[in-house]
Amino acid sequence: AFMLEASEIGVLEQRVRETLGIDNCIVVPGNSDTQDWVKQEMGKRCAQLLEGMLHPNYTVAVTGGTTMAALAAAMPPIHTAENVMFVPARGGIGEQVENEANTICAAMAKRARSQYRLLYVPDPIGEESYQTIIEEPSVKEVLSIINRSNVVIHGIGDAMTMAKRRRTPAPLVAKIKSGVAVSEAFGYYFDAEGNVVHRVRTVGLQLEDLDKAEHVIAIAGGASKARAIASYFKLGQNNILVTDEAAANQLIKGY
Ligand code: BG6
Repeated sequence: AFMLEASEIGVLEQRVRETLGIDNCIVVPGNSDTQDWVKQEMGKRCAQLLEGMLHPNYTVAVTGGTTMAALAAAMPPIHTAENVMFVPARGGIGEQVENEANTICAAMAKRARSQYRLLYVPDPIGEESYQTIIEEPSVKEVLSIINRSNVVIHGIGDAMTMAKRRRTPAPLVAKIKSGVAVSEAFGYYFDAEGNVVHRVRTVGLQLEDLDKAEHVIAIAGGASKARAIASYFKLGQNNILVTDEAAANQLIKGY
């Protein structure tokens, strides 16, 4: 009673689409909370999906995270489009190097045999240094590329899990808690209704920029993330979710 039939997966995908009101959903069997290969499978499916939507000169903005790392590892060489460029979606948001958008971006581009640019803006910094850095020509240039992203791919996290992982300072944790944040994506924390509770201030893609992209893909699975996924999709900015069976089952139960 372990593997689902393709038709059962199809039904799950359809029900998730209806629940979240989105065009496209891919569900892989299993639960990535407890089974590592499930994340890898999500990565593979997401990589195929991405490959199919690329056109010449497309720019793809990516976030960090372990799920995005699985996508990077599964990325095939891109034969379908020339001059594809990968960029990190935003500057540092407190992640450790292995989880950083820059790291994922470089790894993904390398496997795709594509170009990439990185953002060297450190984690939340003082106002004055921040203003100076974003005026740097090299930073400005990358920011303008990010702004023209055709595709955005990002993970979704549980708010408190992400706040802890990033060693968020106590006053900000208090803010995130008192705002009852349940989800996190690219440094923004959202409550159950999809309102922004807190955002890590950094350069790059801002929430308002998402509607300029042709495709906004979220990749997140595991039963523990169902509530976060439901909260994040209240924003209505994404048209695609790549997830797993465990998250899908919880989602349609009505988180
Ligand atoms: C972060 C992304 O790096 O990873 C977030 O910026 C995402 O968008 C988070 O919520 C998820 O991480 P993981 O490891 O659960 O995939």
